[in-house]
Amino acid sequence: MFSKEDIVKFHEMKTPFYHYKTDVLKQTLQSIVNETNKYNYHVHYALKANANAQILSLIQSYGLGADCVSGNEIIAAIENGFPTDKIAFAGVGKSDEEINIGLENDIFSFNCESMAEIQVINELAAKKNKIAKIALRINPNVNAHTHQYITTGLEENKFGINKWELEDVLSIIAQSKNVKLMGLHFHIGSQITDLKAFKSLCIRVNEIQEWFYNHHIIVDHINVGGGLGINYYNPDEELIPDFVMFFKIFKDLLKLRPQQHLHFELGRAIVAQCGNLISKVLYIKKGVNTNFAIIDAGMTELIRPALYQAVHKIENLSSDNSILETYDVVGPICESSDCFAKAIKLPATKRGDIIAIRSTGAYGEVLSSNYNLREKVQDFYD
Ligand code: LLP
Repeated sequence: MFSKEDIVKFHEMKTPFYHYKTDVLKQTLQSIVNETNKYNYHVHYALKANANAQILSLIQSYGLGADCVSGNEIIAAIENGFPTDKIAFAGVGKSDEEINIGLENDIFSFNCESMAEIQVINELAAKKNKIAKIALRINPNVNAHTHQYITTGLEENKFGINKWELEDVLSIIAQSKNVKLMGLHFHIGSQITDLKAFKSLCIRVNEIQEWFYNHHIIVDHINVGGGLGINYYNPDEELIPDFVMFFKIFKDLLKLRPQQHLHFELGRAIVAQCGNLISKVLYIKKGVNTNFAIIDAGMTELIRPALYQAVHKIENLSSDNSILETYDVVGPICESSDCFAKAIKLPATKRGDIIAIRSTGAYGEVLSSNYNLREKVQDFYD
């Protein structure tokens, strides 16, 4: 992944920083475009994964739409060139101000998560004399078999409208003159590597479509969300996720009615592998059963291991020592959870070595903080 020149350069740079390889992002986007063109599918990039301006403007240049979860994400999408008619707006708690941003920009769809929200959107749209296009986010009750914090499609989760509420929802929509139902939306979770979960989703969507059909409703748009996982263990073996397989599942199993469009909201699978967190070793410290490699990046720059016990491959770019030693790789923050990996093997490591924490383009920099009054993490593109 990194050339000798990269590594020399990293030694001279102030660390930590996020390093983005735009050629990896371009190849990923090209692969998505190739596959979706086959079936005429639409992909909305989930900005929550990474909202850096350079990343956004590159992604929109490949013709993708945007999936936003806040008013500020809608604004960032527009500022970086996403057409407003390709912006979907999701989230269980949209504020009035955020709904107004969506209305003023005539976005593609409000993905609605409750009856109360539909009523508020209707009122706000009426004040502006507009018709808001809405999709119902339906909780499909499908298990994504992923970490409990990033599973969303189960009845116990806060997301979406449950199947038994649908009759009531339809009567509210019928009374709401300023909303137009144009889609159904689903999302079962994130970092899904067992593709069987998407097969189960297709089957559920078919059943739910049947229910709507029996109620004389055929919506124009079906949105199956995001969630395709990536290979965190061996990123170089799979820098580009298997989009061929992924989209084919929907082609084979999802029954679209004539004229219906299929939409996806991918985040992680688009940006994870193009980003790496680059850090320097500050100290090596002997522990009881292990050595600690204390690096200058912490949970403030990358919280995924602390929050979700997430695994990221860690490489020492400076050492090609054939002797492997065992290290706990930890950050400088005053929290025991500030640990990137426990008891991993690295070539003998010393102060000043460059450490790469791989596959951090998604949900890395966006989740960074200035806890302990740390400086905002820098980013660097090539
Ligand atoms: N659509 C909806 C409605 C979502 O809630 C999400 C992610 C996506 C699309 C994009 O999912 P993706 O394709 O990226 O899996 N911070 C966590 C991930 C949280 C995902 C939240 N929702 C992590 O670092 O793993």
